Amino acid sequence: MSSSSAALPARLLRWSGAGWFSVAAIGQLAFVGFILAFYGVRTVTGRFAAWNDKPLIKGYIGGDDIGNAVFAAHVLLAAVLTLAGLMQLIPDLRRNRPRLHRWTGRLFLTLAAVMALSGVWLTVVRQSWLSSISGVAILLDAVLILIFGAMALRRALQRRFEVHRVWAMRTFMVVSGVWFLRIGLMGWILVNRGPVGMTDTMSGPADIVMAFGSYLIPLAVLELYLAATRSRHAALKVLAALLVSAAALFTAVGVFGTVALMWGPYLW
Ligand code: HEM
Repeated sequence: MSSSSAALPARLLRWSGAGWFSVAAIGQLAFVGFILAFYGVRTVTGRFAAWNDKPLIKGYIGGDDIGNAVFAAHVLLAAVLTLAGLMQLIPDLRRNRPRLHRWTGRLFLTLAAVMALSGVWLTVVRQSWLSSISGVAILLDAVLILIFGAMALRRALQRRFEVHRVWAMRTFMVVSGVWFLRIGLMGWILVNRGPVGMTDTMSGPADIVMAFGSYLIPLAVLELYLAATRSRHAALKVLAALLVSAAALFTAVGVFGTVALMWGPYLW
């Protein structure tokens, strides 16, 4: 095999990864835009009760000052965390602005822990959950965020940057679990032209697969992508490139669905 044909599977794999990340970045920026335009505007103008203009499990509750404050901090920090996470994965920034990368990295890991802990508080203390199975799924996500974030930090402090990069990518996947959940639910509804296997309390078979799959499936695809990158087998690289391309396509459908059905109607 000539060296250029041997390099093709590796290139396909890289392109598929870059393609998925570009689609995901657009969808995550849309998430940030929604948070700022919906929660940001209502919070800054003191219209806290208007958080409930969109369906929530427990958004604003009159008299529950602590609960409302934790909710506000959780949703507003979600925008900063999502932006910081995206910045960490942009290769140019990582290579050419190492100081910026270190500071946004510290911010990302700190906020990831704050979000996981405030999310656990909202779920357990405020009892904001739809079904026990969806509650367990999001709590497991919080545990993984805390463990993976600690591993990413530890490897960076040990200056083991190759392993750090892998743990940082795993952290990005579990931190993005709540975003993936929205994309997955809306993508599923569009592909099936309706809420097949779903219930209002998120306890249908499709809901349960999505609740755990929102972080376990992206983690599995990431592991396959990394294994294929390391592997010398062209077939594995091509297979992984096809899977990541399919994931990019589904992500694009899900982003469209989420903007059109979940966020857009409350903004315009
Ligand atoms: C780390 C990344 C996270 C992000 C970016 C994030 C983002 C958000 C956003 C934007 C909302 C507002 C709800 C909406 O408009 O749909 C929200 C609410 C909430 N989040 Fe998170 N969250 C994260 C992690 C978690 C975790 C790990 C948990 C639980 C362990 C959690 C539990 C909750 C709960 C209970 C609510 C209130 C839901 C309601 O009352 O409807 N979050 N989160």
